Amino acid sequence: MTEHDITLTVNGTEHELTVESRTLLAHALRDELGYTGTNIGCESSLCGACTVHLDGDAVKSCTVLAVQADGAEVDTVEGLDTGGEFHPIQEAFQEEHGLQCGYCTPGMMMTAVDFLSENPDPSREEIREGLEGNLCRCTGYQNIVNAVESAAEKMNTGAVADGGEVRWPDEGGEGE
Ligand code: FES
Ligand code: FES
Repeated sequence: MTEHDITLTVNGTEHELTVESRTLLAHALRDELGYTGTNIGCESSLCGACTVHLDGDAVKSCTVLAVQADGAEVDTVEGLDTGGEFHPIQEAFQEEHGLQCGYCTPGMMMTAVDFLSENPDPSREEIREGLEGNLCRCTGYQNIVNAVESAAEKMNTGAVADGGEVRWPDEGGEGE
């Protein structure tokens, strides 16, 4: 069994850990580092529950080996809020009832944040296409689309999405 010493910066905190060659990023985050907000549904790239940001891009962390992420910046759902204040996507999921059991929700939100950073004013059809890699067994998707639409409005009026981070206007953002 070959082991590797790697470094992951998760939500801004640097971690050094030792992983096996076969260890998936999802397992390293959950089992080695305790970021259990990253859920695992299928381990085969089908459900999207394990979605995190890797150097700013949404990826399914069950499809990435931990050694491949050595040296990377990883953002998980635990890093969405700012000092206890909900990210607009979290607010929107709460307000629009975008979840039932909640199992898909971390992955949905991480995918949505990356999607909105690239398409800040999407149509409902574009939202559906943007989330097509994330499955939900509970909601029927309608309220999830509502939530992402609402988050886009919030971010366009009060803040600017920037690679998964939100810069509020008084912090140098470019909100309208
Ligand atoms: S657990 Fe990664 S896509 Fe389902
Ligand atoms: S809320 Fe249950 S799987 Fe989406």
